Amino acid sequence: MSRRIIILGILYQAFFAFASRRVEQSFYIPSTLQNRTSYTVFESLASGLDGPKVQPINATTFDWWYFDVVSTNPPDLSTAVCIPTPDSVTDITVAVLWISFPNGTLWSTASHADGATVKVNGDYTDGTWDNSGFSWTSKESGYLIEIDAPDAGVTGTISFRTVAPPHYPCGPAEAGQNLELGPHIGWANAISDADSTVDLRIDGDTPFAFRGTGYHDKNWSDVVFGTHITSWYWGRGRLGPYSLVWWDVLGRTGVETFSAYAAKDQKILAASCAPESIKARPIGQNSTYPPVLSTGNPSGYHVELDLGVDGKLELDLTVLAPTIALNPEYARFVGNMSGSITGERNTERLIGMALFEQFKLTE
Ligand SMILES: *[C@@H]1O[C@H](CO)[C@@H](O)[C@H](O)[C@H]1NC(C)=O
Ligand SMILES: *[C@@H]1O[C@H](CO)[C@@H](O)[C@H](O)[C@H]1NC(C)=O
Ligand SMILES: *[C@@H]1O[C@H](CO)[C@@H](O)[C@H](O)[C@H]1NC(C)=O
Ligand SMILES: *[C@@H]1O[C@H](CO)[C@@H](O)[C@H](O)[C@H]1NC(C)=O
Ligand SMILES: *[C@@H]1O[C@H](CO)[C@@H](O)[C@H](O)[C@H]1NC(C)=O
Ligand SMILES: *[C@@H]1O[C@H](CO)[C@@H](O)[C@H](O)[C@H]1NC(C)=O
Repeated sequence: MSRRIIILGILYQAFFAFASRRVEQSFYIPSTLQNRTSYTVFESLASGLDGPKVQPINATTFDWWYFDVVSTNPPDLSTAVCIPTPDSVTDITVAVLWISFPNGTLWSTASHADGATVKVNGDYTDGTWDNSGFSWTSKESGYLIEIDAPDAGVTGTISFRTVAPPHYPCGPAEAGQNLELGPHIGWANAISDADSTVDLRIDGDTPFAFRGTGYHDKNWSDVVFGTHITSWYWGRGRLGPYSLVWWDVLGRTGVETFSAYAAKDQKILAASCAPESIKARPIGQNSTYPPVLSTGNPSGYHVELDLGVDGKLELDLTVLAPTIALNPEYARFVGNMSGSITGERNTERLIGMALFEQFKLTE
């Protein structure tokens, strides 16, 4: 974790704790929209990767924290996605949890907070969604989500032990990086890959526990979501020794933007937003590109991702099940991932599990 001083735009208030050598800064997020101009950050500082990027939150801005875990065993469809996030127009500090059971059955819940506090420690954060029962804490080695929300039907923990370095859309976690993933969408990936354990109790008595790979990012914007986006594909997963994260975003102007990430043995192999760094396209049924609202969901995706010195990865994703109720705009899936490295002789086909999503917002 970086121990350099956090300065988030004009909003800084550094507290230097000598004993732990941690620099702390605390932000309060009221549960209601603020009728003021929001200040939004689109360039990185030396630290504060997972910290708030929009202050305050008004009717046309958002700032989300997103966590997920996907099982590492293909027959097991278990996933957990937690977003302590604005979910409605008026009540913006809501924690939402979606899970899919091993058999693919979906369950979700939401818990409303009275406001939230996010503390920034170097590149990482601690977050408390007041009186919602949802909070997280972080250390250099990972994150822990604690949930005590019996009224929302869930208690337990989700842990993340980081196995790959954090990053931004176009490069590593360092000062001066462009944070815009696509038009007006900021993105910072605090946990690109982790060994995770989900240990929850659903509706009082149903245990929901599994091990898998975990992930955490945040995204934000200075405009209403979707106003500048036509469609996008996001995905992530672990394939053999590789931790992978990709974005392929199509803006309303017809410009496609990209972000590719690959890490191995705790080191970044590729972190780039160059046009040839990654390309994702739907395959099988409903593989029209670009997808529109009336296009059905595809059977899978083909992704080409440049691994840098390790070569080029050709990846096929097969949808196994949706992890959220299907709707025309948004779909998130758990699926099989298989890949091989172009040009390399005698390489075995690598396999793994992935979580991936698509937005399509126009007809
Ligand atoms: C927001 O502030 C403006 C200017 O102060 C005021 O005209 C408007 O009515 C306010 N809107 C709300 C929803 O409070
Ligand atoms: C919210 O902030 C943005 C700038 O980030 C500004 O353009 C917009 O007018 C603000 N909205 C309100 C209601 O103040
Ligand atoms: C799937 O698993 C859940 C949780 O154990 C259970 O409630 C549900 O009935 C199962 N569904 C089917 C179709 O077996
Ligand atoms: C933010 O990113 C996560 C995945 O990284 C995604 O699931 C979510 O849809 C994104 N939301 C917005 C509004 O950008
Ligand atoms: C393709 O789209 C049709 C129509 O929306 C849908 O019924 C079908 O299930 C889709 N195929 C897949 C693989 O999801
Ligand atoms: C997913 O991968 C597992 C393990 O490789 C395999 O057993 C299963 O048949 C695959 N499913 C699909 C739909 O490809």
